[in-house]
Amino acid sequence: MYILESPHLTTQNLSLPHAQIERPGRPPLLQIYSPTLTPLRHLQRQRKGKIRKLIVRPSTHFQLRIAQRLLITSDQRVVAKKDRAIPRLKIRAGPAFGSGEHATTHLCLRYLTHFLASSPKPKPTVLDLGCGSGILALAAAKWNANAIGWDLDPTAIQEAQRNARINRLNNKARFSIIDALRAPLPDADLIVANLYDSLLLHLLPRLERHRKSHTTLILSGILHGQENSIIRAARGFRWKLQRRGRLGRWHCLQFRA
Ligand SMILES: C[S@@+](CC[C@H](N)C(=O)[O-])C[C@H]1O[C@@H](n2cnc3c(N)ncnc32)[C@H](O)[C@@H]1O
Repeated sequence: MYILESPHLTTQNLSLPHAQIERPGRPPLLQIYSPTLTPLRHLQRQRKGKIRKLIVRPSTHFQLRIAQRLLITSDQRVVAKKDRAIPRLKIRAGPAFGSGEHATTHLCLRYLTHFLASSPKPKPTVLDLGCGSGILALAAAKWNANAIGWDLDPTAIQEAQRNARINRLNNKARFSIIDALRAPLPDADLIVANLYDSLLLHLLPRLERHRKSHTTLILSGILHGQENSIIRAARGFRWKLQRRGRLGRWHCLQFRA
């Protein structure tokens, strides 16, 4: 899979799969995906006058291990012998955000699998808001949760459904195109939202019923410097900070009622 990315491109008249990567304080980065280079080179020529430089990068094989709890891989064939007993998810790199390589996803996977490993319920419900490739909901389904994933982006939902099929988890994970900031939110034991800090601030006031019914909350996608405003806002809604972690510039926060 090749990825062409540029902050100067728009999605207008674009027939190739693509994802808009939000970057707080900077214009969103548009990533366009193709299994071959030719259509991307063609696009590059077509939109030449407008864009000075486009980065075309082949997406590489990746593997991510979350302790002994989960192994995310883009290629099942290259799993080391010692890792073969670990529950495994196959997620391809692109065409939706969420291969596990990004720090925000990585932190969510740590907290999510830790929550599920210690959950007293045999089949907890996990709601993944902004599911992208479905990676978090599928990780939860792999841990026997009843998983629900929502995303605004139809390409992301298509990709999440595809990932559910290839991991044979389509009976445990349901994905829908839904705006998490508008639709009524279903009950859940755990809500995980790897969104951006401004969206998280809009989400918090919608979670009062969940706090009362003892839902756990994992909030990620929080840039360094923004974490205290999220903690203050959550405390204002009477959520208690339970865990916090940082990878590079990104923070992840876990709250309980
Ligand atoms: C940072 S990505 C996270 C993807 C994946 N959950 C992960 O952890 O790797 C954020 C996702 O949220 C989606 N999104 C943004 N605003 C949303 C909203 N209001 N409702 C639902 N999804 C939204 C975007 O389309 C994108 O796929």
